[in-house]
Amino acid sequence: MSHSLVTMSYIIASILFILSLSGLSKQETARRGNYYGMLGMAIAIAATAFSASVTSYTTLIVALAIGGAIGARAALKVEMTQMPELVAIMHSLVGMAAVLVGYANFMDSTIVLHGVERTIHEIEIYIGILIGAVTFSGSVIAFCKLSEKISGKPLLLPGRHWFNLLLLIAAVVLGGVFLQQTENGLGIVPLAIMTGIALVFGVHMVMAIGGADMPVVVSMLNSYSGWAAAATGFMLSNDLLIVTGALVGSSGAILSYIMCRAMNRNFISVIAGGFGTAAGGEAAVIEGEVQPIDADETASLLLEAKNIMIIPGYGMAVAQAQHTVNEITKLLKEKGKKVGFGIHPVAGRMPGHMNVLLAEAKVPYDIVYEMDEINEDWAHVDVSIVIGANDIVNPSALDDPNSPIAGMPVLECWKGGTTIVLKRSMASGYAGVGNPLFVLENTRMLFGDANATMQAVLKALKG
Ligand code: TAP
Repeated sequence: MSHSLVTMSYIIASILFILSLSGLSKQETARRGNYYGMLGMAIAIAATAFSASVTSYTTLIVALAIGGAIGARAALKVEMTQMPELVAIMHSLVGMAAVLVGYANFMDSTIVLHGVERTIHEIEIYIGILIGAVTFSGSVIAFCKLSEKISGKPLLLPGRHWFNLLLLIAAVVLGGVFLQQTENGLGIVPLAIMTGIALVFGVHMVMAIGGADMPVVVSMLNSYSGWAAAATGFMLSNDLLIVTGALVGSSGAILSYIMCRAMNRNFISVIAGGFGTAAGGEAAVIEGEVQPIDADETASLLLEAKNIMIIPGYGMAVAQAQHTVNEITKLLKEKGKKVGFGIHPVAGRMPGHMNVLLAEAKVPYDIVYEMDEINEDWAHVDVSIVIGANDIVNPSALDDPNSPIAGMPVLECWKGGTTIVLKRSMASGYAGVGNPLFVLENTRMLFGDANATMQAVLKALKG
């Protein structure tokens, strides 16, 4: 394929990626956004495969077959609830690719550059490996935390901010040494030491994140993986990779910013790493009696109510209760009730998790509200149903400064009429903190798998 045709294909692919991102920003256009992305990626792969930079088709086909098979298997096998882990491990692969490409570039004796060009190339290699290694080790730890292979509790080393600063200074100093030493062929030593430091930084940064702050880290690693890809693009002189990496990097950074705002966390301290729990002391112990309720009583409460708010959380995804919830919503609306859905920005385990589930069950978009839209309005809600949610409706986030989720805005459903909480036990949620909502006067607990209990409520409503 001629060079200009490859360039043209890359421009088309870049435009498709931009359209894809803008499509994905709204539920109504998200499907179209996905199609744009797929088409853009297909064009990008085809143009690269047929470009002059490919020297061995056998290697390319074998690599595509292996990568494609692993990707297809993972996508077919993965449960919706495991999506964040999959994303985290994919980010680690982007990071690893940047590191490997960096080392391959460094060792490639066919690349002969002089003067400024050579220095720029070496800086590209150094930065590419640095970002790649942080992304790789940070994402592996995020994967282990999200899949509960290691504890989600933050590891707060004494003087951790100083430790991070030390690592940063060492990486900068080693960068200077690297640029000086490449002349006499000794650059590999500072490069290898820096790689080790970057790996340690990635591990330390994510290990220090605790409780409910993981969403911010996942979107931040998403951004880092974009910058790692962009750095790889510079090393390979591949314009499309630079553009795509920059798109992922900047959109990930915007998402991190949105997440930080949602969690009431400081963006700069997140980017610098080493932010953790706000807690200085022990979180309060929850005391009091819970008031259980059954499906028939729940149905009666719903039939008496005029204004109903449904708050879905991670448990709805686990139970796959969204279809039953939609059935109940339709039935209640037919009976003249006003039904809405309140969505917390970090409900579930990935950004937009609840919106995806509700869209899958064909819940109309116009009754799905964001947290800010409804937090003023609880006085008008007669009954709220919390479906497998916990941290996002925890009042201690607002009134216990020692809570690991202190300062995080939550859906303040206790300010409405009756709250019915659907979960299987009194177990805590992702952040591992007790929830005083469950023992409040106007709260009722409907214990059991959310889909089974919702089915029972649906039956009672019909009966
Ligand atoms: P959680 O606080 O994790 O609570 C989910 C609750 O669902 C659990 O308490 C669990 O209680 C219940 N549950 C699980 N399976 C169930 C089933 N089959 N039927 C009924 N209930 C079930 O979830 P949330 O309220 O959605 O909050 C999200 C949390 O995840 C936040 O802390 C957030 O920071 C964190 N997080 C979010 C993201 C993103 S980007 N959204 C990413 C990583 C982490 P039982 O075991 O008693 O049933």
